[in-house]
Amino acid sequence: MNITATSLLLLLASSTEVFGDTIFYVTKYEAKADGNTDITQNLRFNFITNSMVKDITSRDSKQFQMNLLGCKNLTFYNVGISAPEVSINTDGIHIGRSSGFNITNSTVETGDDCVSIGDGSEQINIQSVTCGPGYGISVGSLGKCPNEEPVVGISVKNCTFTPRMA
Ligand SMILES: *[C@@H]1O[C@H](CO)[C@@H](O)[C@H](O)[C@H]1NC(C)=O
Ligand SMILES: *[C@@H]1O[C@H](CO)[C@@H](O)[C@H](O)[C@H]1NC(C)=O
Ligand SMILES: *[C@@H]1O[C@H](CO)[C@@H](O)[C@H](O)[C@H]1NC(C)=O
Ligand SMILES: *[C@@H]1O[C@H](CO)[C@@H](O)[C@H](O)[C@H]1NC(C)=O
Repeated sequence: MNITATSLLLLLASSTEVFGDTIFYVTKYEAKADGNTDITQNLRFNFITNSMVKDITSRDSKQFQMNLLGCKNLTFYNVGISAPEVSINTDGIHIGRSSGFNITNSTVETGDDCVSIGDGSEQINIQSVTCGPGYGISVGSLGKCPNEEPVVGISVKNCTFTPRMA
């Protein structure tokens, strides 16, 4: 399956909802609708091992603001993420197939999931994170695709949640 093409379709579908009948021009941010360039996430961390990310902010991304795939022993410290409360489907951090991810002293304000935890995530520690407005920390979606890996060892401590009002 071509994941990029799927993401692009999702993006186009959700921008239709956001902007009514206006068209979202994917080339506006130097993204190319070529089926190879993934334009739906501000920051991607793919297969990062034994690393720390700190003192960065992501603003007004499309879809996932930050996406982790296949990471091992990765720490986020003092990371900020924000998008308008009424934006659609802008999860803060999505984690997939990663083990040993810690996030501390960070703030995620997106109107949607603060952290979403997908299949194959293990030993995820979320501490002193301020979430919201939004839908909090979620696990899933799970069970939609074949060959999904289990989710194991999620810990959430000292976090603050503000629900979405709009
Ligand atoms: C995890 O990553 C940190 C760097 O953020 C490194 O100092 C530490 O040794 C790593 N732990 C293991 C078990 O490799
Ligand atoms: C925690 O994050 C805030 C910003 O969100 C920053 O001002 C503060 O310095 C950080 N705390 C530490 C101990 O680094
Ligand atoms: C991540 O958090 C867990 C639980 O607080 C801790 O045992 C582990 O050492 C932390 N890992 C890193 C790389 O800071
Ligand atoms: C709990 O979170 C608050 C706000 O993020 C922070 O100021 C405080 O130091 C944290 N306390 C502990 C024990 O982690």
